[in-house]
Amino acid sequence: VTEPWNAVADFVHTATGLAFPAGRRRILEDGCVQTMRAHRCRDPDAFLGRLHAEPELFDDLVSAITIGETYFFRHAEQLAVIRDVILPDLLASVRDRPLRIWSAGCATGEEPYTLAILAHEAGIANRVHIVATDISRQALRLARVARFREWSLRGTPAAMRERYFERREEGYELVPRIRDLVEFRYLNLAADAYPALSTATWGMDLVLCRNVLIYFDAASAAAVASRLLESSSECGWLVLGASDPLLEGRLDVDVVATAAGLVYRRKGRSGTSPPAAPAVAIARPHPRPIVTAAAPPPPQPSQPPQAPQPRQSPTQAPPRGREVEPPLADAARERYAARDYERAAELSAQAVEGGTVDPAAWIVLVRSLANLGRTVAAARYCAAAPEDPAIAAERAYLEATLLVQLDRGEEAMRAARHALYLDRSFVMAHFALGDALARSGDREGARRSYRNAHELLAGLPPASPVPAADGEPAGRLRLLAATQLKLLEGAA
Ligand SMILES: C[S@@+](CC[C@H](N)C(=O)[O-])C[C@H]1O[C@@H](n2cnc3c(N)ncnc32)[C@H](O)[C@@H]1O
Repeated sequence: VTEPWNAVADFVHTATGLAFPAGRRRILEDGCVQTMRAHRCRDPDAFLGRLHAEPELFDDLVSAITIGETYFFRHAEQLAVIRDVILPDLLASVRDRPLRIWSAGCATGEEPYTLAILAHEAGIANRVHIVATDISRQALRLARVARFREWSLRGTPAAMRERYFERREEGYELVPRIRDLVEFRYLNLAADAYPALSTATWGMDLVLCRNVLIYFDAASAAAVASRLLESSSECGWLVLGASDPLLEGRLDVDVVATAAGLVYRRKGRSGTSPPAAPAVAIARPHPRPIVTAAAPPPPQPSQPPQAPQPRQSPTQAPPRGREVEPPLADAARERYAARDYERAAELSAQAVEGGTVDPAAWIVLVRSLANLGRTVAAARYCAAAPEDPAIAAERAYLEATLLVQLDRGEEAMRAARHALYLDRSFVMAHFALGDALARSGDREGARRSYRNAHELLAGLPPASPVPAADGEPAGRLRLLAATQLKLLEGAA
C-alpha cells in the first residue's frame, strides 16, 4: 500500500512540531484532502512541493489539522490558582510596572479573553498586557472578531456572561473593554524566534500554554517548554494544561505544586523585577513626512504582495497631494500605535498604493504586516520601499528582521550590516545581525553583535525609548541582550 501522506506528515512535523501517530493520522489525511481541494491540487507530490513554496497553502493545511477545541473558563481550578496565587505573587514582584501575559496556542481566543476577564474582575485590567499567539491564522482571525457561539461559553458562570457578553442573533459578542485587552499575533511555537523582540515574546510574567504540547512529540514539547521558560521574566510562571506532558525531570525548572496540579517557574529566579518601564509596545514617533515637489512614483514590488485590499483601487484616481494624503499616513500611524495592525495595514497600503509622498507610510505598512504574521508580504513591501534617506536605516533593519524569519540568513546579515553602515549606533540592527549570525551557527559573531547592543544600551537611562524598538525601553532591551548572551553560552 502506498502511503502518499508520509512525506507530508514528516514535513508538517518538522515545520510545526505536530506529530501524527496512527491514532491521529486521519486528521492529517482529511486536512490534506480538504486543503488540496481548496487549492485545486490533485496530486500529493505536487501538493508537497507547493507546501514548501506557498505559505498560504501551508497555513490552510495547518488550520485544517490543528485541534482548536477551547472554551471560556476552561479548567476552573487552574484559573482559581492563577487568580488567587499567581497574580497576587506577580503584582507583589513587579511592583508598579505592567504585567505581561502570554497565551501561547490561543486558538480562537477564549483562553486569553478569560484571562482578560480575570484581570478585569481583579481590578487590574489597566495593568496587564495580554499577548495571544497561534499558528492558525484562521483561528486568529476569528479570535480578533470576538464573537462566540453558546458552545464556547459552556463553562462560563452566569454572572460573567451577564457582565462581559452581549447577546447577538448568532451567539455572543465580547464587550470591547475586554476584547481590547488582548493582542493577537501569529507565532509558530516550533519554528519562530522566541524569546524575541520582533515577536513581542520576551519578559513574560505569566505564560499559559495549555492543551498544545499534547499534540507534539516528546522532544519537541520539551524544546518548546524550555523556550517558553526562557521567554518568561525573572519572576515569571509557566502554566501547562492538565493533559500536557509533565516537565519535571525533563527540564531544569522549579516545580510548584498547587491545588490544580503542577505549575513551573524558571530555575534560580532572583525574585527581583525587571526595571520599571512601559511594557506595552507603542509605536515610536515617526519622522514627519518629507514633502517633495513631485511625488515619486511608487516602486513596483516584483510580485504583487498579499497586502490588504486598499479601499480604493490605485487605478481609481486615489487621493494625492499633500492636503489630502498625509492624514491617511497619520491615521495609519495612529492605528499602529493603538496596535490595530489590520487597520494600520489597510490605511498604509492605501497610502503606499496611492503613491504617497510620506516614506514612513512604507515603514508602518511593513511593520503592520510583520506584526500580523504576514512575513512574506512584509518582506516584499520592504524590498519595494523607496530609497529615501529618512527611512533607509530602519528599512534595512526591518528587512534583516524579516529575512531572519524567512530563513534567508545571508541576505539578512547583509541587510543588518547595511543598516549598521548607515548608523553604527543602531541598537536594533545589532540585535538583528546577532539573530542572523546565531541562526547561521556563527556564535562568536552573534556574541559580538549582542555585546555591541548591550554596550550601547548601557549608556542609556533604563526608561529611555530606543529608536525603531516599538516602544521597548533601553532597560528591557539590555536584559534581552544579556539573555541572548546567556543563551549562546548555554548553546556552547
Ligand atoms: C486545543 S487548542 C488549545 C487552546 C487553549 N490553549 C486551551 O487550552 O483552551 C491547541 C492550539 O494550539 C495551536 N498550535 C498547534 N501547533 C502549534 C504551533 N506549532 N505553534 C503555535 N500554535 C500551535 C493550534 O492551532 C490550536 O489552536
